[in-house]
Amino acid sequence: MKLYIINGPNLNFLGIREPQHYGNTTYEGLIQMIQNHAGELGIEAVCYQSNHEGDLVDKIQEAYLDGADGIVINPGAYTHTSIALLDAVKSVQIPTVEVHISKVEEREEFRQISYIRAACQKAITGEGVKGYLMAMDFLCEFLSKGEKK
Ligand code: DQA
Repeated sequence: MKLYIINGPNLNFLGIREPQHYGNTTYEGLIQMIQNHAGELGIEAVCYQSNHEGDLVDKIQEAYLDGADGIVINPGAYTHTSIALLDAVKSVQIPTVEVHISKVEEREEFRQISYIRAACQKAITGEGVKGYLMAMDFLCEFLSKGEKK
Protein backbone atom coordinates (compact mmCIF):
# COMPACT_ATOMS: atom_id res chain seq x y z
CA MET A 1 0.00 0.00 0.00
CA LYS A 2 1.28 3.43 -0.93
CA LEU A 3 0.15 6.71 0.70
CA TYR A 4 1.04 10.21 -0.48
CA ILE A 5 1.48 12.65 2.43
CA ILE A 6 1.19 16.16 1.04
CA ASN A 7 1.81 19.37 2.97
CA GLY A 8 1.04 22.88 1.77
CA PRO A 9 2.46 26.34 2.45
CA ASN A 10 4.49 27.16 5.56
CA LEU A 11 4.40 23.61 6.89
CA ASN A 12 8.13 23.37 6.10
CA PHE A 13 8.43 25.94 8.94
CA LEU A 14 6.96 23.62 11.56
CA GLY A 15 8.86 24.06 14.82
CA ILE A 16 9.59 27.68 13.84
CA ARG A 17 6.11 29.04 13.09
CA GLU A 18 3.59 29.84 15.84
CA PRO A 19 4.38 26.97 18.24
CA GLN A 20 1.27 27.88 20.26
CA HIS A 21 -0.77 26.58 17.31
CA TYR A 22 1.54 24.08 15.63
CA GLY A 23 3.80 22.77 18.41
CA ASN A 24 7.55 22.27 18.46
CA THR A 25 8.05 19.33 16.10
CA THR A 26 10.00 20.38 13.00
CA TYR A 27 9.00 19.37 9.47
CA GLU A 28 11.95 16.96 9.40
CA GLY A 29 10.76 15.51 12.72
CA LEU A 30 7.28 15.06 11.27
CA ILE A 31 8.63 13.21 8.23
CA GLN A 32 10.64 10.94 10.55
CA MET A 33 7.48 10.17 12.56
CA ILE A 34 5.55 9.44 9.36
CA GLN A 35 8.26 7.16 7.98
CA ASN A 36 8.57 5.28 11.30
CA HIS A 37 4.80 4.79 11.37
CA ALA A 38 4.77 3.66 7.74
CA GLY A 39 7.39 1.05 8.71
CA GLU A 40 5.19 -0.16 11.58
CA LEU A 41 2.19 -0.40 9.25
CA GLY A 42 4.24 -2.08 6.53
CA ILE A 43 3.32 0.52 3.91
CA GLU A 44 5.12 3.06 1.72
CA ALA A 45 4.78 6.79 2.46
CA VAL A 46 5.75 9.35 -0.18
CA CYS A 47 6.14 12.74 1.52
CA TYR A 48 6.01 16.10 -0.24
CA GLN A 49 5.76 19.76 0.78
CA SER A 50 5.34 22.86 -1.35
CA ASN A 51 4.51 26.49 -0.81
CA HIS A 52 2.93 26.67 -4.29
CA GLU A 53 -0.66 25.78 -5.14
CA GLY A 54 0.01 24.46 -8.68
CA ASP A 55 2.81 22.21 -7.41
CA LEU A 56 0.34 20.68 -4.96
CA VAL A 57 -2.11 20.05 -7.82
CA ASP A 58 0.73 18.41 -9.78
CA LYS A 59 1.54 16.16 -6.81
CA ILE A 60 -2.08 15.03 -6.44
CA GLN A 61 -2.10 14.14 -10.15
CA GLU A 62 1.24 12.36 -9.73
CA ALA A 63 -0.31 10.30 -6.92
CA TYR A 64 -2.85 9.04 -9.47
CA LEU A 65 -0.25 8.30 -12.15
CA ASP A 66 1.94 6.56 -9.55
CA GLY A 67 -0.92 4.31 -8.40
CA ALA A 68 -1.17 5.70 -4.86
CA ASP A 69 -3.84 4.06 -2.70
CA GLY A 70 -4.51 7.03 -0.44
CA ILE A 71 -3.63 10.66 0.21
CA VAL A 72 -3.13 12.51 3.50
CA ILE A 73 -3.16 16.24 2.85
CA ASN A 74 -2.69 19.33 4.98
CA PRO A 75 -3.24 22.09 2.43
CA GLY A 76 -2.34 24.83 4.99
CA ALA A 77 -3.97 28.15 4.09
CA TYR A 78 -4.99 26.79 0.66
CA THR A 79 -7.62 24.79 2.56
CA HIS A 80 -9.59 28.00 2.89
CA THR A 81 -9.12 29.32 -0.65
CA SER A 82 -8.38 26.63 -3.21
CA ILE A 83 -11.01 25.23 -5.54
CA ALA A 84 -8.09 23.91 -7.64
CA LEU A 85 -7.07 21.52 -4.86
CA LEU A 86 -10.69 20.41 -4.38
CA ASP A 87 -10.95 19.71 -8.12
CA ALA A 88 -7.62 17.84 -8.10
CA VAL A 89 -8.75 15.47 -5.33
CA LYS A 90 -12.11 15.00 -7.05
CA SER A 91 -10.30 14.25 -10.34
CA VAL A 92 -8.08 11.47 -9.03
CA GLN A 93 -10.76 9.78 -6.87
CA ILE A 94 -8.16 8.52 -4.41
CA PRO A 95 -9.40 8.18 -0.79
CA THR A 96 -8.12 11.31 0.96
CA VAL A 97 -7.91 12.53 4.55
CA GLU A 98 -7.61 16.25 5.34
CA VAL A 99 -5.37 16.97 8.35
CA HIS A 100 -4.93 20.16 10.35
CA ILE A 101 -2.48 20.31 13.22
CA SER A 102 -4.43 23.07 14.98
CA LYS A 103 -8.11 23.03 15.92
CA VAL A 104 -9.23 25.19 13.00
CA GLU A 105 -12.88 25.17 14.18
CA GLU A 106 -11.84 27.20 17.22
CA ARG A 107 -9.79 29.78 15.31
CA GLU A 108 -10.58 32.75 13.04
CA GLU A 109 -13.73 32.91 10.93
CA PHE A 110 -11.74 32.64 7.67
CA ARG A 111 -10.43 29.23 8.76
CA GLN A 112 -13.97 27.83 9.01
CA ILE A 113 -14.24 27.22 5.27
CA SER A 114 -12.59 24.14 3.80
CA TYR A 115 -13.05 23.71 0.07
CA ILE A 116 -11.18 20.41 -0.06
CA ARG A 117 -13.32 18.76 2.63
CA ALA A 118 -16.11 17.94 0.15
CA ALA A 119 -13.75 15.52 -1.61
CA CYS A 120 -12.28 13.93 1.54
CA GLN A 121 -13.30 10.77 3.40
CA LYS A 122 -12.41 12.34 6.73
CA ALA A 123 -10.99 15.47 8.40
CA ILE A 124 -8.72 15.29 11.45
CA THR A 125 -8.14 18.59 13.29
CA GLY A 126 -6.52 19.69 16.52
CA GLU A 127 -4.57 16.50 17.23
CA GLY A 128 -1.15 18.07 16.61
CA VAL A 129 1.29 16.19 14.37
CA LYS A 130 -0.22 12.92 15.67
CA GLY A 131 -3.13 13.74 13.33
CA TYR A 132 -1.03 12.60 10.35
CA LEU A 133 -0.47 9.18 11.94
CA MET A 134 -4.19 8.91 12.76
CA ALA A 135 -4.95 9.70 9.10
CA MET A 136 -2.56 6.94 7.98
CA ASP A 137 -4.26 4.47 10.35
CA PHE A 138 -7.68 5.50 9.06
CA LEU A 139 -6.68 5.03 5.41
CA CYS A 140 -5.08 1.64 6.08
CA GLU A 141 -8.28 0.42 7.72
CA PHE A 142 -10.54 2.07 5.13
CA LEU A 143 -8.56 0.64 2.22
CA SER A 144 -8.29 -2.82 3.74
CA LYS A 145 -12.10 -2.91 3.87
CA GLY A 146 -11.98 -2.30 0.12
CA GLU A 147 -14.09 0.83 0.38
CA LYS A 148 -13.67 3.45 -2.32
CA LYS A 149 -15.47 6.73 -2.69
C1 DQA B 1 -3.30 24.46 9.25
C2 DQA B 1 -4.43 25.46 9.56
C3 DQA B 1 -4.52 26.50 8.46
O1 DQA B 1 -5.57 27.42 8.76
C4 DQA B 1 -3.23 27.28 8.36
O2 DQA B 1 -3.30 28.22 7.32
C5 DQA B 1 -2.04 26.38 8.22
C6 DQA B 1 -1.98 25.16 9.02
C7 DQA B 1 -3.11 23.44 10.39
O3 DQA B 1 -2.39 22.47 10.17
O4 DQA B 1 -3.64 23.64 11.50
O5 DQA B 1 -1.10 26.69 7.50
O6 DQA B 1 -3.66 23.72 8.09
